[in-house]
Amino acid sequence: MKVLLVNGSAIKDGNTFIALSEIAKTLQTEGVDAEIVQIGNKPVRGCIACGTCKAKGNGRCTFDDDVCNRILEKAEKADAFVFGSPVYYGQPNGALLAVIQRMLYAKGDAFRFKPVANIAVARRGGATAAFQTLNMAFQMMNMPIVTSQYWNLAYGRNPGEAAQDSEGMQTMRQLARNMAWMLKKFKGVETTEHPETEPWNPMNFIR
Ligand SMILES: Cc1cc2nc3c(=O)[nH]c(=O)nc-3n(C[C@H](O)[C@H](O)[C@H](O)COP(=O)(O)O)c2cc1C
Repeated sequence: MKVLLVNGSAIKDGNTFIALSEIAKTLQTEGVDAEIVQIGNKPVRGCIACGTCKAKGNGRCTFDDDVCNRILEKAEKADAFVFGSPVYYGQPNGALLAVIQRMLYAKGDAFRFKPVANIAVARRGGATAAFQTLNMAFQMMNMPIVTSQYWNLAYGRNPGEAAQDSEGMQTMRQLARNMAWMLKKFKGVETTEHPETEPWNPMNFIR
């Protein structure tokens, strides 16, 4: 069982990476493989609705000069997904949305019926809106959405600060345990009746 985690941020070791790493680490503890891929900081095209992917039927975006098809190749082999986005103007970052839209259009079968979760990372505002936006595409792809004990959000401004969001990190760990549990249930692997939980660790902006 393998989960592909896609980091939409151009900042390689930033706050979204920290949140995704917490998920990846917990998945591995649960016996599930996890790989984080970075969208990176090179140009990413948007879908131009050319329909070439449908016409050719090769399951690839016609634009082969950015990360989209590389991530798609990995998606085909994954059993589940986590998409992580920094919040930009109350929305997911544009490059991540562009890659998601192109991948789903070019090769929906790489995603259909596979569990998915999204996470949003913000300094202060717009995180729930970005989180909801990310969920939209997957909810029309027959993908079971994995939840946690709260919306999948973490807070931090400068790279590294999200590690101090102890509740956010706990939300990420619970998300990972829930995803591992769901995957095991789906695959007929023996597991517990419910995923394990931690004692709730609530916090707010002023601690
Ligand atoms: C263009 C841009 C727009 C942003 N818009 C928001 C916003 O609407 N709300 C917010 O809370 N943070 C906003 N931020 C801050 C980032 O979401 C925040 O610093 C986040 O931790 C970055 O994650 P990263 O380190 O993974 O890139 C914005 C940052 C940038 C660069």
